[in-house]
Amino acid sequence: MVTSPSVAEKVEKKNKFEKYKAEKDGLAVKDELEKFAEMGWEAVDKTDLTGRLKWLGVFYREVTPGKFMLRLRMPNGVLSSHKMRVLAEIVQCYGDDGCADITTRQNLQLRGVRLEDMPGIFERFKQAGITSIQSGMDNVRNITGSPVAGIAANELLDTQGLVRKVQDMITNNSEGNYDFTNLPRKFNIAIEGSREDSIHSEINDIAFIPAFKGGDESSQLGFNVLVGGFFSAQRCDAAIPLNAWVPADDTVVEICRAILTVFRDRGARGNRQQTRLMWLIEAMGLEAFREAVEAQMGQSIAPAAPVDAITDETKSDHLGVHPQKQPGLNYVGMHVPVGHFYAEDMFEFARLAEVYGNGEIRLTLEQNVIIPNIPDSRLETFLQEEPVQKFSIDPSPLVRRLVSCTGSRFCNFALVETKQRAQALSEKLDSLLTVDQPVRMHWTGCPNSCGQPQVADIGFLGTKARKMVNLSRQWTSTWAARWANIPNLASA
Ligand code: HEM
Ligand code: SF4
Repeated sequence: MVTSPSVAEKVEKKNKFEKYKAEKDGLAVKDELEKFAEMGWEAVDKTDLTGRLKWLGVFYREVTPGKFMLRLRMPNGVLSSHKMRVLAEIVQCYGDDGCADITTRQNLQLRGVRLEDMPGIFERFKQAGITSIQSGMDNVRNITGSPVAGIAANELLDTQGLVRKVQDMITNNSEGNYDFTNLPRKFNIAIEGSREDSIHSEINDIAFIPAFKGGDESSQLGFNVLVGGFFSAQRCDAAIPLNAWVPADDTVVEICRAILTVFRDRGARGNRQQTRLMWLIEAMGLEAFREAVEAQMGQSIAPAAPVDAITDETKSDHLGVHPQKQPGLNYVGMHVPVGHFYAEDMFEFARLAEVYGNGEIRLTLEQNVIIPNIPDSRLETFLQEEPVQKFSIDPSPLVRRLVSCTGSRFCNFALVETKQRAQALSEKLDSLLTVDQPVRMHWTGCPNSCGQPQVADIGFLGTKARKMVNLSRQWTSTWAARWANIPNLASA
């Protein structure tokens, strides 16, 4: 690993994760995987098992010992039917234990995977162009982009190529890149190409949003850069403008490289709750941070371009049938409840993509699937397909915006079961209520907030409750006193 003097000189008590990373870089387990597979998971060093293997996307799950979670990378949420089929075949091998989840970073996590099979799985990944490298712990997470990049009628820029290039830079074309395997903390990057902000720019450490140079619509199109957005159990902050505009070319890759380098070399590595990029920006001051990024790039960065505010109201959930910018073609968004599905469903999505589209499949940040490139002439037949009835293209308002983290079925941090509960409650509410607009309900199994309850209309967060009876009594008496003063409710 490259360590700059500024990190080495810092007098700070490093957190326990820093200690094990300093002893052996997480990525080093890549060369030990065969050995681990042969010896069996019980014999693997505990830190390698529960920590470093996450650098390969391999997550030991205490809730299901011996059955691992495998987190992939799906740049811009785009995959082919071939990749989907390879993943379905892997999941299928594990019978009842095998399943997969679509995540809120347009990614896939496979369940039930055995460590002894991992070398063979990675070999298949290589052949199919799939990777899971650097997808967990102090690494850059799956890089998101608009799920309808390249096909949306209202798009300004197609971000797919740029997202891929940034991923390739960070991971050294999926081989693993020691330059960026020891960040102070995890890191999120997103690149938006439309006016919709479907990437949720505000919750990313770096977000690119389209902007014309100088704000003039007849001039060059590029991106304004936002930095420092993050959620944590103790603090949530929206990304702030870096006052930087970059053209939609390799400069995007270079500014990511520069920001990551500054973060790696100067970011705090002490209190784990204070190690995300925003803490560094605050410690340095935004202007000094910007100068450090410029110095790292070896070039000056243009000031941000003025843009119209990008508002949440414009966000589409991409469900249903939508004409593409390519005449005669359509994309269809299908709702996968809480993003959970099985091998047979994955095979079906692959089949639909091949039979009706061009073999491409997209994943959305709302944990759903899009089949693009369906010609007008094939649409009617497509809509009659059985999987289209199972994964509705027009779910009810209380179901369509439902998002859930993993919860206690697989995640050892969880304090409650989330996915089944979330689905059951939405369906129940659906049978009781009539609402005329979607309600965004987000469930998260513990205060780590992976399910982003903070951005929901109704957020559910699993937590421990002590003195529940007393609290509820207090609540009841407080409200009873208030209701007493409201004529209509006094008798309720
Ligand atoms: C200390 C804080 C956190 C811890 C320990 C943590 C832990 C985890 C774990 C263990 C998983 C995988 C669970 C499984 O599926 O088996 C996960 C997934 C995920 N978490 Fe967190 N999490 C934290 C904070 C957050 C925050 C603040 C966000 C964003 C709001 C977030 C977003 C996600 C996402 C999107 C996934 C799915 C994987 C992906 O697409 O990259 N997490 N997290
Ligand atoms: S919020 Fe908690 S329970 Fe849910 S996936 Fe994250 S760590 Fe696990």
